[in-house]
Amino acid sequence: MFNCIKSENNVFKNLINGQWLSSKEDNFIEINSPIDNSIVGKIPAMTKEEVDFVISTAKRAQKDWSKVPINERAEILYKAADILVKNIDELAEIMVREIGKDRKSSRSEITRTADFIRFTADTAKNLSGESIPGDTFPGYKRNKISVVSREPLGVVLAISPFNYPINLAASKIAPAIIVGNSVVLKPATQGSLCGLYLAKVFQEAGVPNGVLNTITGKGSEIGDYVVTHKDINFINFTGSTEVGTRISKITSMVPLLMELGGKDAAIVLEDADLELAATNIVAGGYSYSSQRCTAVKRILVIDKVADELVAKVKEKISKLKVGNPLVDDVDIVPLINKKAADYVSELIEDAKNKGADLVAGGNRDGNIIFPTLFDNVTTDMRIAWEEPFGPVLPIIRVKNKDEAIEIANKSEYGLQSAVFTKNIDDAFYIADRLEVGTVQVNGKTERGPDHFPFLGVKASGIGTQGIRYSIESMSRPKATVINLLK
Ligand code: NAP
Ligand code: G3P
Repeated sequence: MFNCIKSENNVFKNLINGQWLSSKEDNFIEINSPIDNSIVGKIPAMTKEEVDFVISTAKRAQKDWSKVPINERAEILYKAADILVKNIDELAEIMVREIGKDRKSSRSEITRTADFIRFTADTAKNLSGESIPGDTFPGYKRNKISVVSREPLGVVLAISPFNYPINLAASKIAPAIIVGNSVVLKPATQGSLCGLYLAKVFQEAGVPNGVLNTITGKGSEIGDYVVTHKDINFINFTGSTEVGTRISKITSMVPLLMELGGKDAAIVLEDADLELAATNIVAGGYSYSSQRCTAVKRILVIDKVADELVAKVKEKISKLKVGNPLVDDVDIVPLINKKAADYVSELIEDAKNKGADLVAGGNRDGNIIFPTLFDNVTTDMRIAWEEPFGPVLPIIRVKNKDEAIEIANKSEYGLQSAVFTKNIDDAFYIADRLEVGTVQVNGKTERGPDHFPFLGVKASGIGTQGIRYSIESMSRPKATVINLLK
């Protein structure tokens, strides 16, 4: 099924108007595995003219697609979910090699995505419009009724990051197309192969020609051109705050939905179940080497229980398996590239130099950063504020819950936070005051389940995702007002 998406020499093609096309130019980007630097494939660096053609194709196809009944669109999504699961072995293998995610997490990303797609179809089938009587507003009579339905926006540009190359592409594509938009997917360069495989899955399920198209090429080269293209009607972006901010500065009059960086805090109070907190901190802080926006990225713990928590976290870190996801079932994998590993090393050096206590890790082998824990981190250290996107966690000891809230809120980010306590009043006291999209009480920070609202405030994002929320974000109300003559 996937043969057509690449040529024999492993050069991948793009899905354009229902055809898998090579680039006209001889300009390709090599995708190397973060595990062993082997070549996983090559992708076209598309030209502006090719981008124009893709977007015009999407624009044309959207008109007919918007007229297809929702139940028919839903059937295509159910099929796509089935095809995804049927091909899980091949897709997971690509994911392991392309982004270095461990095999178990790669497989679970794929099954989770299939569930996401099915739930999107279910949700869309159950969305209904409303009719609003005019006479509820002062001065109006019963002769005015607004009938409100939902309309697609047009061409949705979906830009996905490297770390969830199937899930964070599909979670844009499925809600966009179910409501009648067409989509242009620009996957992260490292992650493009997974994105192209996913596009093939949707095509195989019956998504009509032109409704889903792909663009490959470096964001730094074609990104600005794509996001400012006149025929893009909506941008759904997941990635760094730096790139997200740039997109929001250079675009105008195009609605944006953005999931950006985070510095999620786990706040541990004196009465917390420390075993539970430590388990969640380690699971939430180190999986896929912390290359997750929602990873726990700092621990704010009440001084009185800090020693006990540190001991428990340290003990659990020692059980994490570090290594090569191609051969072992590991928790800690090589970071996505050398630049990412160098950045984490810088943060580690800064913390060491400024006097933080190294409790675990701190060492590196190539692009593998061993799971690292620092205690007695102070607010002058970079690791207190910056998002490492690598397996290093700072512990900041605090006097009380108000100091924890104050430090938590000083961050530029506002994605999620976790609070560990047995006292529901304290949990609500803190949750009410945290400037984040979601507060998890007695659980790790995480996005799922995927029908929950998922959003970041401050530098962590714009708008709200989550299945129903994403569908609503990528459509608009259309009001038809009936003025009764009698
Ligand atoms: P990134 O470097 O910002 O890249 C994200 C996407 O943007 C890629 O497809 C990239 O393409 C593209 N891009 C780069 N420059 C662009 C430009 N000028 N215009 C348009 N697109 C451009 O982020 P990443 O390294 O892939 O992912 C890590 C970051 O994403 C972290 O900060 C993480 O917190 C955040 N993230 C957030 C969430 C969330 O839900 N809040 C989820 C996942 C990740 P190229 O690959 O070709 O450069
Ligand atoms: O970083 C990507 C984001 O979507 C994370 O999802 O389930 O790992 O919290 P999850």
